[in-house]
Formats: sequence, structure tokens, C-alpha cells
Amino acid sequence: MIKSFKLNDGVEIPGIGLGTWQSSKEDAYNATLSALKNGYRLIDTALAYQNEDAVGKAIKDSLIPREEIFVTTKLPAQYKSYDEAIKYANESLANLGLDYIDLYLIHAPWPWSEVGKDCEKENIEVWKAFIDLKKEGKVRSIGVSNFRPSNIKNIVDATGVVPSVNQIRFFIGNTQEEVTKYCQDNNILVEAYSPLGTGEILNASELDNVAKKYNKSKAQICIRYCIERNTLPLPKSVHEERIIANLDVDFKIDQGDIDYLSTLTIGSRRPLRS
Ligand code: A2P
Repeated sequence: MIKSFKLNDGVEIPGIGLGTWQSSKEDAYNATLSALKNGYRLIDTALAYQNEDAVGKAIKDSLIPREEIFVTTKLPAQYKSYDEAIKYANESLANLGLDYIDLYLIHAPWPWSEVGKDCEKENIEVWKAFIDLKKEGKVRSIGVSNFRPSNIKNIVDATGVVPSVNQIRFFIGNTQEEVTKYCQDNNILVEAYSPLGTGEILNASELDNVAKKYNKSKAQICIRYCIERNTLPLPKSVHEERIIANLDVDFKIDQGDIDYLSTLTIGSRRPLRS
């Protein structure tokens, strides 16, 4: 059993989840159903992934009580006003067919078409909407994604409300140490999207010896590495056998091996969209 985390607002979140970025509706439906059947209790989606309805249907069809499942979705990065945040949160709720979202994230500090643009003023407005959505009970916890420390400080200074989560691209060879340290020092849970480097790092021969030593696949080493670093991995797969294997990571990697894995520079560091 993978240990859950307690967020800074007291909400409990499972320690690993299924990612659904780049999953078609059909794949997202089957993967979510299969994940839930095999013990996952956290599903991560986004309005931008265009599969919320499929995820929601799989949750219903799983027949698992709603309160046992933790659902994360995200406000598309291009919507940067208070009203849009409320409007699209309601749209996500309708797509998912749910009364509440467990964790709602600002997908990025800037629109994907204008990466790096200064949207600090706008992010404050969006964050105020998130605070209100939480007050209303439409979402249980609120957070951000792809935020730098300066983006986080901006919304915290303006509102006094610290995000519970920052979901970032985190995998062996791309651990964004500055962001990770800032979040962990400030009790903001780091969620690792693309913990397998979108599959790319599974070819890295640098992982061969560690995988052999623990008698695990390279994917399992990558996922366990995230857990050992106190981050919450969100591996994506649409294949049942991989979905099952990716959850089978209840083993320990020695600190020496974690230190070795932390020195690697494998996989591409370009800021990919999640
Ligand atoms: P697929 O969905 O066809 O199984 P990330 O989680 O870093 O974004 O990586 C997702 C990519 O890694 C997808 O291409 C996925 O393919 C692949 N993948 C997921 N789990 C495994 C696994 N256990 N072994 C090999 N490839 C995997």
C-alpha cells in the first residue's frame, strides 16, 4: 500500500494516481476503469485533455463510492479571469458528472500559446475564484501546476492562501530542484506528472543496474523514485498490465541509489505541456 499524503488544508490524498494526459476518451474510460478496479483511488484529468466525461463515466461505472475516489482536474491555462475560473469549474463538474472536485488546479501560470507571459495580476483573480469555489464546497482542495516559486509567492502574498499542490513535470533527470525544494519547504505537495518522462527515459541504460538490483522494471524504479522524493507520481498508461505494474511499487530504494539517480541528466528538459 502506498502511503497517502495529508495536504496543508487537512485533506487526505492517495500517494499515487493515474495520469490521463494524451489519452483519448475511449482510452481514458478504459484506463480509469481498469485503474480503479486494480486499486488506484486517484485519477488526474484536465478540461484541456478533453476526456473528463470519459473519466467521470468510468468512475460511475466502477460502482466504487464517490467519496473513496479522489478526482483532480484543471482550469485551462488560457482562462485568466475570476468569471472564467468559475464558469469552467462548473463545466468540468458537468463533464465529470460530479457534485464536487477533490483537487482543482490552475493548469499553468500562462497560456500555453504564450509560455512565460506575465499573468501575475490575472492569476490573483483566478486564485480568488478558486478560494471561493473551495468555500462553496465545489472543490475540496486547490492548487497550481507548472508554477515557479515567484508565481506561487504572487498569489499567496495577495490572498494569504497557500496552494495545497504544485503539479510539475518531475522525473529522474528532470527534478526541478529549485521548485521542488521551495514547495516542500512550504508544505506544498509536489505532484509528479510525466514520472516516466512521457516514456522517454525508459530507454535510458543508466537505469539498468538499479532496476536489476531491485528486480523491478525501469518504469517501477522511476515511479518509486518519485515516492522516495516525497512527490506524488501520476504515471499515465492505457494498458492494463502496465497500469497494474505501475502501482506495484511498494519497495524501498536505498538512499545511495536515490542520490545516484538524482545526479542523472536523462530525458528531455523542455517544458512539455501536461
Ligand atoms: P501507454 O499509455 O501506451 O502504456 P508518463 O507517465 O511519464 O507521461 O509516461 C507515459 C508513457 O509511458 C506512455 O507512452 C505510456 O504508454 C508509457 N508507459 C506507461 N507505463 C509504462 C510501463 N510500465 N512500461 C512501459 N511504458 C509505460
